[in-house]
Amino acid sequence: MKGGAAGPGSCVIRLEAFAKVNRSLVVLGRRPDGFHELDTLFETIDLSDRLEFEPADGLELVCSDPSIPSGEENLVVRAALGLAREAGVPPRARITLEKRIPSGGGLGGGSSDAASTLLGLTALWGLDLPIGRLAPLAAELGSDVPFFLFGGRARGTGRGERIEPLPDAPPEPLLLVFPPFGLPTPDVFKALGAPGLTAAGGDDIFASPVPGGFPDRNDLEPAAERLRPELGPLRRALLRSGARTARLSGSGSTLFGVFRDLEGARQAGASLADLPPGSRTAVVVTVPRREFARRALPARMVPAGGTEGVA
Ligand code: C5P
Repeated sequence: MKGGAAGPGSCVIRLEAFAKVNRSLVVLGRRPDGFHELDTLFETIDLSDRLEFEPADGLELVCSDPSIPSGEENLVVRAALGLAREAGVPPRARITLEKRIPSGGGLGGGSSDAASTLLGLTALWGLDLPIGRLAPLAAELGSDVPFFLFGGRARGTGRGERIEPLPDAPPEPLLLVFPPFGLPTPDVFKALGAPGLTAAGGDDIFASPVPGGFPDRNDLEPAAERLRPELGPLRRALLRSGARTARLSGSGSTLFGVFRDLEGARQAGASLADLPPGSRTAVVVTVPRREFARRALPARMVPAGGTEGVA
């Protein structure tokens, strides 16, 4: 999948844009700017969109899913325009996007596509920008976008955009459950009733960051389950099927169970009864940074999280 020459005189860069899950998500409070202060553990999983970047006279986005807008409302286009502006170059590229990550699932598909666009076009346009320099631009595009410049396991604080890469852990099997509906992120944060999380006045409105590790919880689950009562029973069914833990990813609607081995995850997928009609399941593994660097970064780009865990 690494970018390379596709023939004489032409250059196509092909990258994978991985999905993520939030292994832990703690909401510390609602901020004066309306965003929520988070402490979260992100991890990339082996479910990816595919992007291709080629030279062109103008900027063109071609998407395999016709329901996805291809204008400036698409984060890929906004990322391309933002990078061109930042670098002072004309925004010229043909970008092909093959969607596999469901939208509205809390898996970061659109954010990952945006980060992949920053990476792919930096390489296509021959820009002298290390990945770390792309992080502020990524943060402007969305709270989850900077994580996808790092991949692997990482802690996200602030809106989720301040990234601290963590050492790789061995790949773990997950069973994903995609309910037949998505959940808009702003609706879930709103349903959280966050004013109650904010103490009156003062600077210390946020609880201190989680000490000594990541709790097995996602503070958005109760809000998501209020909006979609089907989610609670689904999560409990995942636990009964043998998952070590089962959580909502981000603001949902995707749920994931963590299993000891692939076989256990597959059997659980086959045994889950009474899924709402139109639901799907998939077994995936987590993607360590080493693997992320091989498949999601253009050739010769140095991983943003340093070389820890990247051979
Ligand atoms: O940053 P992003 O564009 O992904 O955020 C989408 C929406 O999710 C925000 O407009 C906000 O309603 C909510 N959000 C939040 N706190 C965060 C991240 C997102 O309230 N840390």
